[in-house]
Amino acid sequence: MPKMSIQDIDVTGKKILLRVDFNVPLTGGEVQDDTRIRAALLTIRYLLERGASLILVSHLGRPKGQVKPGLRLDPVARRLAELLGRPVRKLDAVVGPGVEAAISELTPGDIILLENVRFEKGEEKNDPELARLLAKQADIFVNDAFGTAHRAHASTAGVAGYIPAYAGLLMNKEIEVLSRCLENPGRPLLVILGGAKVSDKINVVRRFLALADTLLIGGGMANTFLAAQGYAMGDSFYEQDRVDEAARLLEESRQSGCQVMLPEDLAVTLELKENSPFDIVAPDAIREGWKAVDIGPETARRFSAAVAQAGMVIWNGPLGVFETPPFHRGTEAVARAIAASSAYSVVGGGDVVAALEQLGLAKEISFISTGGGATLEFWEGKELPGIAALKDKESQ
Ligand code: 3PG
Repeated sequence: MPKMSIQDIDVTGKKILLRVDFNVPLTGGEVQDDTRIRAALLTIRYLLERGASLILVSHLGRPKGQVKPGLRLDPVARRLAELLGRPVRKLDAVVGPGVEAAISELTPGDIILLENVRFEKGEEKNDPELARLLAKQADIFVNDAFGTAHRAHASTAGVAGYIPAYAGLLMNKEIEVLSRCLENPGRPLLVILGGAKVSDKINVVRRFLALADTLLIGGGMANTFLAAQGYAMGDSFYEQDRVDEAARLLEESRQSGCQVMLPEDLAVTLELKENSPFDIVAPDAIREGWKAVDIGPETARRFSAAVAQAGMVIWNGPLGVFETPPFHRGTEAVARAIAASSAYSVVGGGDVVAALEQLGLAKEISFISTGGGATLEFWEGKELPGIAALKDKESQ
């Protein structure tokens, strides 16, 4: 069901509770990667230009209802103020008299950033009282935190029970592009899945087996599929308890008509550390004590050739241990192939996005989703609570 967005309403003069996903990496007390902050700017500027005042709410990390000084949002407020070129008033609490006083003083164009909402015990429990207090002084709720839309928390879903709830521009764009991947993809549709675990992605694999023309599997999760094909994986990481499920998925792929490509050569090493010696072997030649840590050059070549044929490319999860060179090579080769292709490309998941940033290729990607788990759950076909809570277009 299409959702109402801020473009469907008049926001002038409104006090808006705006949920953003500023769950960003920090180093040395500063924001290390501000991608998610920049992704929210469109909505923030749109609302400010129309004379709204904003009460921003976000989580950072997983403090589990405790105040953790290292997870305060002050560095985020500083970065946001720099990017916007205007002051952002950071409060040290999420709710309470100090917050209420600050909100009552808001005038159009002002921005307040509340403290890390996960310092509140009620947040992850979707506590109605916390939701009520968050919503209390705002006229409307806008959810732009697509990355957290798979969580049914007080600040993502609960607040929508108290004030009208609308999608922000980032939320809208995520829903539009990720839906297009499922409902009206470019053809041939090529899906690339990597990352360590198949257990995180079983439903996504199943969904794309039914949809995609070709599915490329790399990274640690490929090891589980190779084990399912009967290869001895040496010391490689794989999920023993998912081997049968992987075998079933391979069987399903034969019936679905989706071509599944697994690595036909692998970089293997005795020790996973930077610049450690390695060998390139076929899956049937992994010796005891060796571990597969990247796709091999022939696989990278075949995967890149498949990318060149695609009309749409969807990618989640690195194809090797990107952060430990030289086991970044498979991921880099495929990233370069996607950057060079004319296919519409959609990438999700922090690891691949970080790799693309590091390679200077992020700008070549048609759409980079800000979600990790949220993107995967969307593609699985699950209803995301943060989206479900928004007003339906029909109900206006
Ligand atoms: C993310 O980084 O994927 C989102 O911000 C959600 O964070 P969470 O997994 O801690 O709920």
